[in-house]
Amino acid sequence: MAKKTEVKDYIRTIVDFPHEGILFRDVTTLFADPRGFRMAIDQMLHSYAGERIDKVIGLEARGFILGGAIAHQLSVGFVPVRKKGKLPGTTISEEYKLEYGEAIVEIHDDAIQPGEKILLVDDLLATGGTAEAGIKLVERLGGEIIGCVFIIDLPDLGGRKRLENLGMDVTVLCE
Ligand code: PRP
Ligand code: ADE
Repeated sequence: MAKKTEVKDYIRTIVDFPHEGILFRDVTTLFADPRGFRMAIDQMLHSYAGERIDKVIGLEARGFILGGAIAHQLSVGFVPVRKKGKLPGTTISEEYKLEYGEAIVEIHDDAIQPGEKILLVDDLLATGGTAEAGIKLVERLGGEIIGCVFIIDLPDLGGRKRLENLGMDVTVLCE
């Protein structure tokens, strides 16, 4: 096996998961490696150095792992956007379509204060439906998204263009 030098070298692809025809990008191999995980967090933060960030929003589930590490690194709070029915307090919700299926995500309605600058974090950008739902939740609470950062973009699915058309600054580490 060649030496791993880039973030994408730590990510494996599982064929036909969770459905036939899906090439599933598995980041657990990246998270499990100390050099890979640190490299990913450092690179995700690179383009936001010096910018004001009040909170990090992580999208369930892998966005929690990355968002938690990034929030800790920045010494700011972390707020989860969760699949429907998981958050205990009062929530607002958004429905969206996935590459394979549909879902509803929620955020606590007191998790963000108007005017707060938010960095949105997830592992992967496919159709952009999940991220767009997260953006809408944040904006409904009066937060301002200063950037959306992902490890992987699947360009054929158009997520990046979709978010850029919403006026978002999008950072991805690899395709
Ligand atoms: C994956 C991924 C993103 C989303 C991207 O999560 O982690 O959150 O899909 O797809 P999209 O750009 O087409 O919306 P998934 O829905 O599989 O949930 P999980 O992390 O809870 O398994
Ligand atoms: N979420 C949506 N599409 C995905 C893919 N191809 N790999 C991993 N997570 C995904």
